Amino acid sequence: MDSIIIRGDRPLVGTVEASGAKNAALPLLAAGILADGPMVYHRIPHLRDITTMMTLLANQGADVSMDDQGRVRVDTSASHLPEAPYELVKTMRASALVLGPLLARFGHARVSLPGGCAIGARPMDMHLKGLEAMGASIHVDQGYVVAKTTGRLQGARIVFDKVTVTGTENLMMAATMAEGDTVLENAAREPEVVNLAQSLMAMGADIEGEGSGYIRIRGMERLNGAEVSVIADRIETATYLAAGLITGGDVTVKHVDAGMLDAFLARVAEAGANVEVGDGWVRCSASERLRGVNVQTSPHPGFPTDIQAQFMALMCTASGSSVISETIFENRFMHVQELRRLGANIVLNGSTAVVDGIDFLSGAPVMATDLRASASLVLAGLAATGETTISRVYHIDRGYERIEEKLRALGASIERITPNPELFRSSRLATN
Ligand code: UD1
Repeated sequence: MDSIIIRGDRPLVGTVEASGAKNAALPLLAAGILADGPMVYHRIPHLRDITTMMTLLANQGADVSMDDQGRVRVDTSASHLPEAPYELVKTMRASALVLGPLLARFGHARVSLPGGCAIGARPMDMHLKGLEAMGASIHVDQGYVVAKTTGRLQGARIVFDKVTVTGTENLMMAATMAEGDTVLENAAREPEVVNLAQSLMAMGADIEGEGSGYIRIRGMERLNGAEVSVIADRIETATYLAAGLITGGDVTVKHVDAGMLDAFLARVAEAGANVEVGDGWVRCSASERLRGVNVQTSPHPGFPTDIQAQFMALMCTASGSSVISETIFENRFMHVQELRRLGANIVLNGSTAVVDGIDFLSGAPVMATDLRASASLVLAGLAATGETTISRVYHIDRGYERIEEKLRALGASIERITPNPELFRSSRLATN
């Protein structure tokens, strides 16, 4: 397994370009199942989760390719197998996003349950209840959700108990080809949901209210293929801005709409960062040590849970203390243990962490536990004196495109170590 070695304590300065958002690209690719004709996608990031989704579509019989301009083309006209096998779903919960589109198109689908996930239980009961309200009959058989409809899905009024991002996306996709109108209440307002709604509209869907908690979808008999573009990755953007701040540097991220980052930018400004926003770019710098500020995660437009770990890393060297409350996932503090290895002073109490800022972090070997937790370790390593080795970086590769290259362009000393499989085999033989 690859590791990343960082020699920290140097300010990161410069400009990087935001990649396309993983969490927007995944539902957009799943929406290709609904298209009667080829889809062409711009700005699909090169990431492990994206490869998983493409493999899933290809496994169903779709023709998936990439042209020399980096555009991805998906044609699902030859798809014939409405399934998502466990081997693929177990590595990526978002595979469940194919359930709604498969059911709407084929009238039946068999999708593996995602299973336990490192950051909490993450059930999909609201996805299933919504599809049932639309007339699907659903049962679980040997770890698979087996869903069927007689005729088309039926439009319905669905009120989510709790805001769910992929739940909203799954049901919105299913509803575009249902008979009649569907209303989604307490729907997710994340920019990725809006990106999906607008892409579905480019495919001919009739949707209103995207970006609000009340979305209305008028079902159609067919949707066409379309050329669509993935929005910038706001989580990646925040991570690079935080990399500038934690090292006392000055980082600009371009090709991004800063409006998606309001909650994060407000908190870092409150902590004392200089924030500048322009047309398609955002810049953060710190002329003095940041101050501790409190954050509580909540659905968009609140502070994103996907930036909680990175923000905590920032607070580790701020002056004073910071209270960080996680309200979305019950087990999203696995980075705390690892940040403490670098000297951070963090006390955990249920879903709240109290961070007491210290003068400096010191490099140490640490282990990545999930995608965003690993980003917080990279940030801490960039600020720490000495060397930090992060193992299990496959978590980072799920969500950060060319992370070493982008950080190096900002002045970081970072390298990836890939173990030589031959050496690994001979050392195992030697110890057996
Ligand atoms: C998406 C994002 C993930 C982000 C999360 C919250 C993608 C691919 N992933 O995940 O990066 O951290 O939103 O912003 O877009 N829940 C239920 N029942 C359900 C569905 C969800 O109880 O049927 C709960 C979850 O356990 C969690 C909360 O609802 O506590 C929100 O989860 P949800 O918004 O669904 O997260 P994902 O869509 O999986």
